[in-house]
Amino acid sequence: MADLTLTGKNPTSLTADALVVGTCSTSDGVAVVADQLPAALVEQLETLAPRLGVTGARQEVRTVPAGKDVSADVLVLTGLGERDADGTFDRETLRGAAGAAVRSLAGSRSAVVALPAVDEEELGAVVEGALLGAYAYTAYREEKAATKLAPVETLQVATPFARSARAKAAVARAEVLAAAVHGTRDLVNTPANDLYPASFVDAVKSAVKELGVKGVKVSVLDDKQLAAGGYGGLTGVGQGSARGPRMVKLSYSPPKPTDKVALVGKGITFDTGGISIKPAANMGAMKSDMAGAATVLHAVLAAARLGLPVAVTGYLCLAENMPGSNATRPGDVLTIRGGKTVEVLNTDAEGRLVMADGLVSAVEDGHDVVLDIATLTGAQMVALGKRVGGVMGTDDVRDEVKVAADTVGELFWPMPLPEELADGLKSKTADIANVGERWGGMLSAGIFLQSFVGDTPWAHLDIAGPSFNDAGAFGYTPVGGTGVGLRTLVGFLEGRGTTD
Ligand code: BES
Ligand code: MN
Ligand code: ZN
Repeated sequence: MADLTLTGKNPTSLTADALVVGTCSTSDGVAVVADQLPAALVEQLETLAPRLGVTGARQEVRTVPAGKDVSADVLVLTGLGERDADGTFDRETLRGAAGAAVRSLAGSRSAVVALPAVDEEELGAVVEGALLGAYAYTAYREEKAATKLAPVETLQVATPFARSARAKAAVARAEVLAAAVHGTRDLVNTPANDLYPASFVDAVKSAVKELGVKGVKVSVLDDKQLAAGGYGGLTGVGQGSARGPRMVKLSYSPPKPTDKVALVGKGITFDTGGISIKPAANMGAMKSDMAGAATVLHAVLAAARLGLPVAVTGYLCLAENMPGSNATRPGDVLTIRGGKTVEVLNTDAEGRLVMADGLVSAVEDGHDVVLDIATLTGAQMVALGKRVGGVMGTDDVRDEVKVAADTVGELFWPMPLPEELADGLKSKTADIANVGERWGGMLSAGIFLQSFVGDTPWAHLDIAGPSFNDAGAFGYTPVGGTGVGLRTLVGFLEGRGTTD
């Protein structure tokens, strides 16, 4: 991750490859907005901006020569859109503008970021956005290509709050969150020939070690233990692959926790669809079908690194959905942990099968609340598009997740669990079928999961769309794994940890 420091110095005096300043659109043109920028420079840039076609719109990033009064080589003008009624910019706007500017500087080594932040919270958003934008996945590229894509290494953020303790705390939190998002993205981007259930377990162990987090315990069930333990969902989905399934339990327990929270993640390391095989087009994106499990892993680690007063247990449901000769067939009946039977009408609805085992385990262990996160349905994207996740569940937990998402700047939208959709999931042979009626596929999947959580307060996050960006990069979001959901989960845990 980029090395980041705060500075109270005049940003034009700092040597770097680039100086990032904000632009915004006003009633009479473009304004340049940056903390501690000399008035003469601001005036000069504001005269120049319209002639350069700079409008100050959000997502606009323009690089210009810096001129003799600025120590950096280039100026990066990053758009903040229009000011809010109170004259400030919302935190997500700051994150996006900082991230887009830093992202545009890939291949450069250093940057000074001078965006307007009226308090430590806004400063935290600028820092977070900059760090989130300083990301590239280059593990499989030759050195030369990797160097060109490499994110900025050194960031200096100019702010009048450079010496404040609250600013330092905001930076520390942003660093933990960004590292967790980067870790999630790395796993999502890793191709499935190298990331499969057993190697995912190794990745969990090395992430725990690498981050030096104390008080996190890892336990693993392998394929034999899963079969013996009655985890029929993981076993049934995993048996078509030469690489057997795993379940990882990862727990962080602070002294005297305020709450006990379970996080369950879908970890299908590759989803071919199984015997109900998927079409060839874009199947490669199904290496990302483990995004939920990656998010849970890094949310637990972030909670530990932040020292949150909440006990958190992560359940990673890891399997590869392949159509091997021992694969589950349509019509087969699986018995989920706890005894409920499922008729598998479509082997491509595998996520809910492994999640059922995970949810039952979480409920068995006893928690105040269970959240699950999964790239569960294509229907999620039909309903909400590629950037907005769906959240369903017990009304108050669902709303709590929505509040957490709004607070951290992620896009989630509450969706219902209409009772009548349960009829579609009736099986002629077993307790339940794994597919329901055609309409509202995201909701039917939610209803299926709901039948495994009993009375435990619960919410389900479907991140099929937002977890993987197969279009262009935007704001602080790169192409490929996005890490969406991580900050919402941590925000939720932070909310649980506040005593009021
Ligand atoms: N992993 C997919 C859902 C998905 C699709 C995630 C596209 C991200 C992008 C899931 O396992 C799946 O295949 N779901 C099926 C369910 C159907 C068979 C009921 C789907 O959505 O088509
Ligand atoms: Mn599938
Ligand atoms: Zn899947």
